[in-house]
Order: sequence, then structure tokens, then C-alpha cells
Amino acid sequence: MRSPRSRWTAAPLLVALAASGCGGETPDPATNTAASGLSLPPDVARVLQTRCVTCHAATPMYGAPMALTTYASTQAMAASAPTRPVWRLMGERVHDPVRPMPAARLPEDELAIIDRWVAAGAPGCSGSTCGRIDTTPAVTSPAARLPCDPSTRGVFTAHASGGTGRFRVAGASGNTNKCFAFRSNFRPGQQATAFAARVDSSRALHHLILFATDAQPGAGDVFDCDGNMPRDARFLAGWAPGNEGSVLPPDVGLELPDNTGWFILQVHYWNTTAEPVEDASGIEMCLSDAPRAHTASVHTLGSLNIAIPPRTMGAEVVGGCTPETTEPVHVLGSTAHMHRLGVSLRTEVFRGGRADRMEPLLDVPEYSFDEQVSRPSEMVLMPGDTLRTTCRYNNTTSQPVYFGERTEDEMCFNFVLAWPAGALSNAGGRAARRCIGRAP
Ligand code: HEC
Repeated sequence: MRSPRSRWTAAPLLVALAASGCGGETPDPATNTAASGLSLPPDVARVLQTRCVTCHAATPMYGAPMALTTYASTQAMAASAPTRPVWRLMGERVHDPVRPMPAARLPEDELAIIDRWVAAGAPGCSGSTCGRIDTTPAVTSPAARLPCDPSTRGVFTAHASGGTGRFRVAGASGNTNKCFAFRSNFRPGQQATAFAARVDSSRALHHLILFATDAQPGAGDVFDCDGNMPRDARFLAGWAPGNEGSVLPPDVGLELPDNTGWFILQVHYWNTTAEPVEDASGIEMCLSDAPRAHTASVHTLGSLNIAIPPRTMGAEVVGGCTPETTEPVHVLGSTAHMHRLGVSLRTEVFRGGRADRMEPLLDVPEYSFDEQVSRPSEMVLMPGDTLRTTCRYNNTTSQPVYFGERTEDEMCFNFVLAWPAGALSNAGGRAARRCIGRAP
């Protein structure tokens, strides 16, 4: 799937995290010297620099509760568990099956470095060979690198109600989901050719998703998303730290709602600080005036038939799809979408409908709600192929969980970007852009 030839460049998380480690700034000599006079061991500092300080910076960003830039910061008591030192939680969270740090997981050799250090009681280091962390990684918006003039872009950003000024995230508001509605002002035939996130205030920004919908959202231009998302909302573009955005192939344009449709920008904030944060982050897109040779759209695969019994681990929901296409379908990318209980999602293609000729279209063995990335693909689906999407959940609650748009409900969707637009549709016809049916 991750062919190096891929022109579809939704960057995986690790690219930017690694890049943040090679800033050319001169480190502050006082940086790693705790009150105790100790510094971080060099191998541990190297892991933290490349994998953690994008978020756990000297001024923590993207909702991270603390810095991980000095030995002292690892010895302090944790924000969430005031009787436990941060280093103990570090040792746990790098292995956490549900909420690993970082979301993309550490490679084995780096896990081993953290494990050895934690097992030894997180010793400090003294002397000139100790590790140092450059505490000033540059934050640049992926949108700054979009290949089009800023004045020509489609822009969807968080804003105060009424549309003027930045959105204000209240102090100590923790984990919140805010939605911003926009009426489309695109002309019929206008398409997106590239998109990327504008990261405005990174301090409380966790991740964001841009959806398209046909109906006017009922809840005003700024609203709490829980329970208020229209059912037909289709994923268009998403961002989490490290996602560098996407440029479509030169002959393909992404279909956009015309001036009868709407966009919803869903922003997940995580403000752990007492101070309010003002933010205008969102998605920017490059536009074509005329349709390109091929028009792509986002198609919904999966199931609406979700009923997960209470206290059940590994419950499966399976949705089948036999697209009514008579021509080949060119896939560009896939985005898994479940809520908090989702643990894995995969979509399999059965060539010619045959179970013995299976090829994976998407395989997310360890799903994390925080990682809203589109995974690139160059797969070509043929008429007669059938698809099966399987979602797995761990329902740790004492309630049954059903399909729905609230955070505590569940979903089982694979949003597939492919051309021609609408080719992955079944019962509802091509206009529905969804292929949802019984398990094959
Ligand atoms: C993409 C941003 C990001 C990266 C990269 C990241 N973290 Fe985090 N971290 C967070 C956020 C946001 C939270 C708070 C939410 C949570 O606990 O899941 C957090 C919480 C934590 C906590 C829990 C603190 C507490 O008081 O409960 C630990 C421990 C932690 N991170 C360690 C690490 C380590 C170690 C690394 C690198 C190996 C790392 N993180 C990389 C964003 C990040």
C-alpha cells in the first residue's frame, strides 16, 4: 500500500516527528540541568527529542499536559496521578494498548531504551556526554507548503460565533469537540486539488476533521459536536500532528459540495492549562476552476448495523459492499473512522467475489481515534470485486453501544477516496457515495 511511487502523499505521523528532531538551534546549556544537577542519559534524550517533544515541548503543545524536555520534568509528579512520577507513566504509556505514546508507537529499539531506563529507576546522568534536548522545535503549518497562492484557497477555520475573530477555548476545559459550519460557496465543477491543515495555536489543538454534508447543520455556525453531526457527514480531510497534507495526482480533482451543500469542521481541543487559548486552525485547499480529467469523491464503506453487548472484548461488526460499477475504480486513500471503543478496522477486497482471492485495501490493526490520517493506496478495483469491512471493539462499559454520532456511540466506516466519483456505491445509487450492505 505504501508504494514509494505513490503520488498521494498523506504523510504518516512519523515523518514530521522525526523531522522535529533535527532543528539547527543551539541548545540552551541550562536546558537539561535539573535542580538536582542531573541531565537525561543521551539515548533517552534522543528518543524524547525525536518522538515526544513535538507535543511535550518546553511549552507543551497539542494538549500534552507536561514538558518532557529536562531530567527534572521526568522526575516531577504526573498531572493525572499526583502520587506517581512522570517517568513511571512514560514506561506505561509507550506500551499502552489503547492510548500509546506516541500514537504511532515507538519502534522496538527505542522502546527498549525507554524500558531499560524505567527498569533501572530512571537514573539521571552527569558529565559532558549527557543528552540535551533542543527545546525550540519549529512549528510550521502544513498549509504553508500548499502549491497554490493563499488568496485563491478554500479556507475552513475555527472562529468565534458569527464568523469574526478566533475561537476561544476555555481554560481547563480538557477534552472538547467543537464544530464549525460553513455554507459552500463553490461553483459547480470546482474541485480541490490539494489540502493541508492550517495550525494556528498549537497549544490546545489535538486533531481536526473536515466533513461535507448535504443538509444544513441545525445547530448554528459554532456548536458542540456531540449528538449534532448530520448522519450523512462524509470525511474530506483530516489532520493530527505529523500529517503533512495531500496533493492529488495532476489529472484528478476532488469533488466538493456546490453552493447547495455544507462543510463542517470538527476540531478536537484538549486544553489542560488554566488559561484560555484562542485558535483559528483548520483546513486549507487548493482549487481548480474547471473539473480535471478524473473526478474523485469520498465513499463510505462499513456498517450502520452496530450493537455491541456490554463488557465485551473483541466484538466484531462486518459490512459488505458490492459496488455497482461497470468500470475500474482507482483508489487514492482510505481513512478508518470509529469512535473510542474501536480497536481495529480492515477492508478486504475479494477479487471477482472469490474468498480465496483476497487483497487488503486497508488494515489498521491498532486503531487510535486520535490519529486521523488518510492512508495512501494505488489499488484498482474491478467490476465484480466485493469488499468486506470488519471493525472490532472493546466495550469496557456496562451499557450496550449502538451506531450513532455522539462520542459514546460507535461508527464503523472506511472513507475511501477514489475515482470516478460515486463508483463505490450500491443500494442508494451513485449519488449516495456509499456502499453499505450485509456481510458477504
Ligand atoms: C502528537 C502529540 C504527542 C506526542 C508525539 C507524544 N505525546 Fe504524550 N501526550 C500527548 C497528549 C495530548 C497527552 C494527554 C492526553 C492523554 O493522556 O492521552 C499526553 C499524555 C502523556 C502522558 C500521560 C501524562 C499524565 O499525566 O497522565 C505520558 C506519560 C506521555 N504522554 C508520554 C509521552 C512520551 C514518553 C512520548 C514520546 C515517546 C509522547 N508522550 C509523545 C501528546 C503527545
